[in-house]
Parts: sequence; structure tokens; C-alpha cells
Amino acid sequence: MATTRPAFEFVDLFAGLGGFHVALDDLNGRVVFAAEWEPALNALYKKNYGVHPWTDINALETDRDIEREIPNHDVLTAGFPCQPFSKAGDQMGFADTLQGTLFFKVHQILRVKRPRRFILENVPNILKHDGGRTQRKIIEMLEALDYSVEVEHFSPHEFGIPQVRDRAYFVGSLDGLDKFEWPTKHKDPTDITSVLRQDVPPARSIPEQTLHAIDMWGDFLRRSPASLKMPSFPIWSMEFGATYPYEDETPPGIWDRRPIWGLRQMGVKGSFGQSLECSVGEQKERIPSHANRDSDYQFPRWKRTFIRQNREFYQHNRSWIDPWLDQWKPEEMQSSFQKMEWNAQGEDRNIDNFVLQIRASGLRIKRPTTSPSLIAFTQTQVPILGSNLTGERRYITPAECAELQSLGDIHLPTSDLDAYKALGNAVNARVVKAIAEVLLEGLANSNSSSTADPEPIVGMRTSTSNKWRDARQECAPITKPPSIGSVLVAGRSA
Ligand SMILES: C[S@@+](CC[C@H](N)C(=O)[O-])C[C@H]1O[C@@H](n2cnc3c(N)ncnc32)[C@H](O)[C@@H]1O
Repeated sequence: MATTRPAFEFVDLFAGLGGFHVALDDLNGRVVFAAEWEPALNALYKKNYGVHPWTDINALETDRDIEREIPNHDVLTAGFPCQPFSKAGDQMGFADTLQGTLFFKVHQILRVKRPRRFILENVPNILKHDGGRTQRKIIEMLEALDYSVEVEHFSPHEFGIPQVRDRAYFVGSLDGLDKFEWPTKHKDPTDITSVLRQDVPPARSIPEQTLHAIDMWGDFLRRSPASLKMPSFPIWSMEFGATYPYEDETPPGIWDRRPIWGLRQMGVKGSFGQSLECSVGEQKERIPSHANRDSDYQFPRWKRTFIRQNREFYQHNRSWIDPWLDQWKPEEMQSSFQKMEWNAQGEDRNIDNFVLQIRASGLRIKRPTTSPSLIAFTQTQVPILGSNLTGERRYITPAECAELQSLGDIHLPTSDLDAYKALGNAVNARVVKAIAEVLLEGLANSNSSSTADPEPIVGMRTSTSNKWRDARQECAPITKPPSIGSVLVAGRSA
């Protein structure tokens, strides 16, 4: 067995798919402890890296537990769960008793083990959460442990990777951060084709209805006169021909005021200009879902603006929109297919040149410079690549999404949806590596914990409470992801 001395030893808390692991392994670091409580991800970590992670980090309750179970290390990494601080969550922050307190567990481990460096990652909203108090509290608590701390936010597209995904990074050092500099953000354009693969196995086919909606909006773009600037507001085709009231009164207000007649005999039209000379029950079917919610007596300003803009757009463009409506009959489609967001102002209007995504807000048509930010996609939300990007319209694959996270060829969860979810939680390894290569400079030459044990070890000891085993005997060979770029660590190439 080769016995190269690692540059440093690290722990990978909240390990997920191992974005930190890929980055630090590439800098010649050696993992000595990982924690991941999700069973499938826990097993996958072992498959990918030959190390069996601890499960629930909260099971390490006392300082003695931490001292006993977590080996000494030079670098602690943690992308602690972000839901409590995310705009998409309920923003309970530290008050979220299940997930919000995990920062305190990281803090406890730092206090007990005192690694020389740390890198923490979270959603950028953590910097603004609770009026900035959350960020200040985190920094104060870390500084109280004698760490120098800096915070910055980065997105992979600032490193040449075609994904916009802003994330906050806290770095800390017990040796000061005077020599530390954040990596430079590049402004060069990115291109999603750089992560697309030609040799993809047959993917899940796109449902007929979805293909039909794409063809319909493709034809809408083709018919639009070149001299017309495409609207930057979302196009709501159900407002084409509609005249129901929306400024001073709303349909739900009228149904309350006139429970028998409703919008009848008011001389107004519903979605796509449909007649409202019918029962109130039928009227409700003929008013767009964004305008028929019970007790919605006053629409917010943004909704009134979109309705007005769409109706004006239709009036000015009926000459080509009416034949399009006749041909495609969008009124027969589900509501999300009736809306379109054009995010490619100034580009040629060929729908197959773009990245497409079906959202509740409609079909989003996006330049192929970047992919939509990875999240736990539902089946319908998985981005679709236009045929001019890949030869045929198809969904982006989990392997391509792994490329968007700079994770290389690691094994992924077998179900696509589980894979997208894990990838949507992962940290981008290229960004971590760019930060870490400066932060960790010098560790290899100093009295780090790694110098105490020149033997390379992977996954280690057995304890009563953990399945942490001697991987030198039991682990399958580590599936090493490909290098994510050459780098110098402490004066040697890694
Ligand atoms: C934001 S993700 C971090 C992903 C990781 N940085 C990566 O590159 O894939 C947080 C992870 O922490 C795990 N987790 C949450 N609570 C945990 C706990 N109490 N103990 C161990 N793992 C936990 C989740 O299952 C999830 O995979």
C-alpha cells in the first residue's frame, strides 16, 4: 500500500455527497471522520470514498463523546443544514430546534478539537438573516474560540462553471488570516454545453404534453415579429381576450357581492375571452387560477401590473397571436403550460437553443450560459435541454448535474430524484477548492495533527456507539473522483 503523507487531515461534517471531500482530497488531504445521518447518503459516502461516516452528529452529546469519537484533525468542514436560514424555508434560524442548532454542535466540536482551520458553508441569506444578527452571532462565537474569521459569498459561475448558485463561506484560522485572500471571481461567460455529455444513457422521456407545450411556445416565438421586443414580464396567455375586472374589484369580490349572478350580464370575458354568461360555478372555471381564489378582494400591485401588461400586449399583437391561439388551443392545457417566461432578451427566437424548465410560473426559457440552480427538483421541474444543445430535447442527467457541482464521476443515488436532491444540497467542489488552497497553505509544513501519524488511514476505529471501522482491512478501494484541477499545497503539487 502506498504511504504518501497527507498534507493535512480533515473532518467532513454533514457530508452529503462529499463536495468538501472531493475538494480537500484533491489538495492531498485525508479524511479522518465524516458524519451523515441520511442512510442512503451515508452508504454512498462509503462507496465513493471508502469511509463509513458517523450517523447523527447530535449523538455526540458531551465534550467527552466528541473527544473520544472524533480524531484530531487540522481542518473542519461543514455545510450545516441551511433550511432554517434559507429564504425558501421558514427562516426560524437558531430557533429551529431540529436543524437551527447544528451550528452550535459545529462550534462545540471546534472548541473541543481545536482544528487549525475551518470552512463552513451555507445559503447566502444567512448573512442577512435576522437583520444581520445571525451572522454577527456566528462570527462572535467563533472569535471567542480564538479563530480569526472571514466571510464571503461565491457562485460556481464565478469559477467558470455554468451554474449560478450563490453560497456564503465562513473561513477560520487559529493562526490569523493576514495572509489569506479570497479567490478572484472571474467574469468570463460560461456555457452549459461544457458539462453536457454526448454519451448519455437513454434518459426518461419527456411527456407528450410537455413536448406539445414546448412546441406551442416555440411557434409563438417563431411567429413574433423580429421588430417586436419580447416582453420581459411573464406571458400569461389566459389573459389574452380576458376583460374581467381586476383593478377596483376582483372576481371573488363580485361572487360575494352577487352570489347568484356573479359576473353574468356585466359584459366581461374570462380566460382566453370565454363567455361568462353562465352559472357562478362555471364562471370560476373560466377565470384564471391567479384571479379566482376565494376572498381575494384586492390583487397585489405586481399581479395587477402583469394582468394589464398581458392584455395590452395581446391587443397590440392580435394579428399574429389569434392564429396561434386557433392552432394550439392553450385553453385546453394545464395552467403552468399556459404561461411563459422569456429570459433570453436579444437572442434568436429558436426554442431549441435554450434551457427550458416547467415551473408553476410557466415554461421558463433561459439562455444556455448557465443551468438553473440545482435544487431538489420534482420530476416536472428537471431542466430540459433544447435539441440544438444536445442533438435531441432531453432532461439534464444527474451525472451532468454532478459536473455542475464539480463532483466528477462519483456514484450517485440510484433514483434520479434522490440524486437531484442530494446534488441540490451539495457544495460545489471547485469553489471549495479555490478557497481551501489558499486557506490551507502551510498546514503540511507545520505541527499539524497529521504529522503525528505518517500512515495513511481511511476510516478508522470501532467504538461502542459507532460503526466507524478499520478501513485498512474492510473498505473497498476508494473510488477517487477525477482531479478538479492542479494545485500547489504547501509547496508541493497535489
Ligand atoms: C446542506 S447538506 C450538505 C451537503 C454536503 N456539503 C455535500 O457536499 O453534499 C446537509 C447534510 O447534513 C445532513 N444532516 C442533517 N442533520 C444531520 C445530523 N444531525 N447528523 C448528520 N448529518 C446530518 C443531511 O442529511 C444533509 O445531507
